[in-house]
Amino acid sequence: MIEIIGPLTNQATASGAGTVGKKPAPLQKQLIERLQQAILAGRLPAGSLLPSSRLLAAEMGVSRNTVVIAYEHLAAVGYVVADKKGTRVSPLSSPAARGEHQTSPATPEAVYAARVEQFAATRTHADNTLPLTPGTPALDRFPLGAWRRALERSMERALPLALGYGAPTGEPALRDAIAAHLRMSRGVRCDGSQVVITEGAQEALNLCVRLFTNPGDIAWVEDPGYRGAKAAFNLGDLTTLPMPVDLEGIAVPPDAWRTHSPKLIYTSPAHQYPTGSVLSVARRLALIAQARRSGAWLIEDDYDGEFRHTGEPIASLQGLVPDAPVLYVGSFSKTMFPALRIGFVVLPGAIAGHAAVALQEMLRGGHRLEQLALAHFIESGEFGRHLGRMRRLYRERQQALRDALTAHFEPSQILGGNCGMHLTLRLPPHLSDQVLAERALAERLNPRALSGFALQPREETNGLVIGYGSTPAEQLAPAIGVLASLAGEMAGARVV
Ligand SMILES: Cc1ncc(COP(=O)(O)O)c(C=O)c1O
Repeated sequence: MIEIIGPLTNQATASGAGTVGKKPAPLQKQLIERLQQAILAGRLPAGSLLPSSRLLAAEMGVSRNTVVIAYEHLAAVGYVVADKKGTRVSPLSSPAARGEHQTSPATPEAVYAARVEQFAATRTHADNTLPLTPGTPALDRFPLGAWRRALERSMERALPLALGYGAPTGEPALRDAIAAHLRMSRGVRCDGSQVVITEGAQEALNLCVRLFTNPGDIAWVEDPGYRGAKAAFNLGDLTTLPMPVDLEGIAVPPDAWRTHSPKLIYTSPAHQYPTGSVLSVARRLALIAQARRSGAWLIEDDYDGEFRHTGEPIASLQGLVPDAPVLYVGSFSKTMFPALRIGFVVLPGAIAGHAAVALQEMLRGGHRLEQLALAHFIESGEFGRHLGRMRRLYRERQQALRDALTAHFEPSQILGGNCGMHLTLRLPPHLSDQVLAERALAERLNPRALSGFALQPREETNGLVIGYGSTPAEQLAPAIGVLASLAGEMAGARVV
């Protein structure tokens, strides 16, 4: 190990060797930094088993306690994972950590394979119209007549001009309509000049990476968290660090700000994806304050906060204090329909003007008729009415799902439900979520394995993410009955 991380500078020898006045860092800090550097540079690749604390202590000439504390720290911030078999390097996504630093010449095909491997899905895409699919809205309840009229209206009024290139940041009418809607319904502090229209939230995430980071910068993601955010960070060659999530949302270890200062932090505060927790106000304020101090940007993904089911609406993180360092990302994939492929990012007022100049080169506009139709749909109140109807429908479906789950599984293991279109069910360790999800798919049910959303799968990330958006209430109890009997077969007993 000493060949990989190098020897530590002993305090006594250092002062004796003429370095007086330049006291070396404490051994524990040195050890942490050496291990981190080796991991980030790929000298300790993902999956490598680190020596036991006793062995490493003997090799490095430090106390065992120093190594134990260093390992604990590295585990808390996500560089390593510890389990019964020992301490292993986590699957970080910096290019070097993936081993691309190796000097042996790689073929272009191998380099390509390594690059695309980081985007590999956990499983092939299942039919997302199947019952229990998370993230699909009730497509059969979409007001097609009203949408058709809005499209015809924009064709009548905007053709042939709208066949040409549009403004790269989107149709001004839509940017204004979104800003007005967000101010009122989500408490976002913005006007239309800050809104950039994108091809869904995914392009908004990609843009945040392009505008605010350089390759190699550190980005934090919630773990478990949204795979689209990880994909965007990989695309920008960022070093992605997992941040744990609990019932109050993203839980940043206090030291992480100092030891792994991030450029971007992805969070879904209204309804953490996929565990469903709501980010507490104390953590919201702390995140904003710390991000300001560290020069980091928070990406707030408000993907389904419009569908609030309990209590008062939870206002956005962006609007909590003036000039918060927040890039507010939204999408019409849940509120309208996914194929519309319209999303947006609200940039902070102070930088929106500068960004617009860069965006003129990066974006080309387009989908102008749909954008104009959507602007009218929002302004005419049709969008608000649709949201109201969907909120009522999803509330009813969620209740049916909750009742069905409660009848078969441990109620305290049902997570989320304040917003949105899915609930998460934690499973006991003897029931593998991947196996159960695969067996469910064979029965034409499509819940997703919770561990598939985790960079570091662990006991708390064994579960199922169960959608109710597109599944009629009366189909939920029978579907959960099938799931419970599959779980029962796997456990060899009833799982109550
Ligand atoms: C957490 C999260 N964010 C955003 C989105 C929407 O992405 P897009 O607008 O690219 O369809 C989804 C959709 O599944 C999601 O789950």
